[in-house]
Amino acid sequence: MAENVTNFFISKFRELLTPEFSEPAAYFRPRPYRNAAVRFTSCRFDDFEQRRAILEKAGMNVFLFPASQIPGCDLLSDSGTTTMTMEQWSRMLLGDEAYGSNEGFFELKDQVAETFGARWSENLFIFHQGRAAESALFSNLSGILYDEKTVAFGPLDSLSERLEPGLAASIRKKIGILQKSEAPLYIIPNNSHFDTTAANIEKNRMLPLDLPCREHIGGDADCPFRGNMDTQALSNLLEAEGDRIPLIYLTITNNTGGGQPVSMANIRAVAEIAEKYSIPLLFDACRFAENAWFIRHGETGYGSKSIGEIVREMFALVDGFHISFKKDGLVNIGGALLFKEKGRMQERYPGLTNRITDHQILTEGHPTYGGMAGRDLKGVVEGLRTVVGQEYLDYRIGQVRRFGQRLQRCGIPILSPVGGHAVYIDIDGFFEGTDTSDGDFKGISLTALLMIAGHRFCELGLFAFGRYRGGREHPPDPRVNFVRGAVPRLAYEDRDLAAAAEALRILHEHRERIPGVEVTYGRELSLRHFKSRFRFKAGK
Ligand SMILES: Cc1ncc(COP(=O)(O)O)c(C=O)c1O
Repeated sequence: MAENVTNFFISKFRELLTPEFSEPAAYFRPRPYRNAAVRFTSCRFDDFEQRRAILEKAGMNVFLFPASQIPGCDLLSDSGTTTMTMEQWSRMLLGDEAYGSNEGFFELKDQVAETFGARWSENLFIFHQGRAAESALFSNLSGILYDEKTVAFGPLDSLSERLEPGLAASIRKKIGILQKSEAPLYIIPNNSHFDTTAANIEKNRMLPLDLPCREHIGGDADCPFRGNMDTQALSNLLEAEGDRIPLIYLTITNNTGGGQPVSMANIRAVAEIAEKYSIPLLFDACRFAENAWFIRHGETGYGSKSIGEIVREMFALVDGFHISFKKDGLVNIGGALLFKEKGRMQERYPGLTNRITDHQILTEGHPTYGGMAGRDLKGVVEGLRTVVGQEYLDYRIGQVRRFGQRLQRCGIPILSPVGGHAVYIDIDGFFEGTDTSDGDFKGISLTALLMIAGHRFCELGLFAFGRYRGGREHPPDPRVNFVRGAVPRLAYEDRDLAAAAEALRILHEHRERIPGVEVTYGRELSLRHFKSRFRFKAGK
């Protein structure tokens, strides 16, 4: 072959490889996988009237809309919606369903050591999903804290004068919204708590406190690590109220804050503060591999490290973590709680592991399967191997990014930069300039109209995170008002997401015609977005 000709074209092909994750280069690069099975949708895309009727029956609550009637993208959650690989399915066929000490349990222990580091495989508590791990942790921790008759401080509204006034006001405001019977004495800080984590903390008489970094609050679209924690606020909190802080959390990536990553520098800084006050630091690690990808691509000094190396470096800095394997475990069900061998969690709460084992036996099953089938454990083992693959993550995060870029080109305001697993539509920006008030919950209206268009999104804003107490609405503080399109892993092609973007484009173009909603049921309930019902307001 004429080498000069082939060299010419190879150099042209190389040029097409950048910029890596955007169009058109992204379409020159093939996907790093192929469909091995497909599912045809069983409903007609153009039957908008039928979807309207179903939605009305479901009280406009998209969680209650039958998935089989969704012809387009189901972006309600990226959790448990992964398309598993052939490798996972083939391992699952070899699942060992023994009641005690099944084969998958030992394989999972080995894989945990390989993925996260050698000190993680001893205190591995398996649960059927992430929130079960959260419930086990916070109910047993609360048992220990409140059983100790040594609580040497008063109620949370008698806060130390050393606490920065803004932080004190935010804590008092949260306490004011809680019912009196809940009266917490302890605080669990996090960059941002996920809703079930916050609910599990509150249920166990502790106060979940979000300390997102200033770049996040200020909406800095150029900050590559908007998931970071405000370390100054954390230091002040610990200095003033350290006795009230049983542990510190960091959610990677920060789902509530927009799927934004946390930098290694921030993890390290938080770990140093935790060390100074001898307080355990834990990850909510659902999207650990996606977080590591952002470190590799956005933080100086990590460009030549593998995702696996970065993950181990991240986990060397914490004392424990809980994880929903339904995200970066690449499976449909599963979760775990882990404490590092000889870490601060064991040091400070020596009785906790035994309590959690009892909890597992009472609520999940024998600790060696912890509420999961033996075959599912094998699926997790394979998923943990796949998820740290550079090519997998490049495509995964690139796809979410391209979806976000497409929306931006249509003029739709989204949280920027785009995070790892989802696109967050900024509802305040979307309806800016229209006749809208907070009580209209227009994020709910938008999800209803998208549902009729054939795509399912989720409101994560004034309704999901706000509260109705004392006869009025309290918006979330700090304010968040998003509709989220969470992209399931390995499930959709860019073409599908383009269809959802097109529906959003039309709705944005005619946004002044979108009415608010009335809440017809469940406004005052806890976790109300899962249960409430709505109807469009007339004439608005
Ligand atoms: C950050 C975060 N933490 C915890 C959970 C809870 O996990 P699970 O759905 O498995 O109970 C989720 C689920 O979406 C999450 O995103």
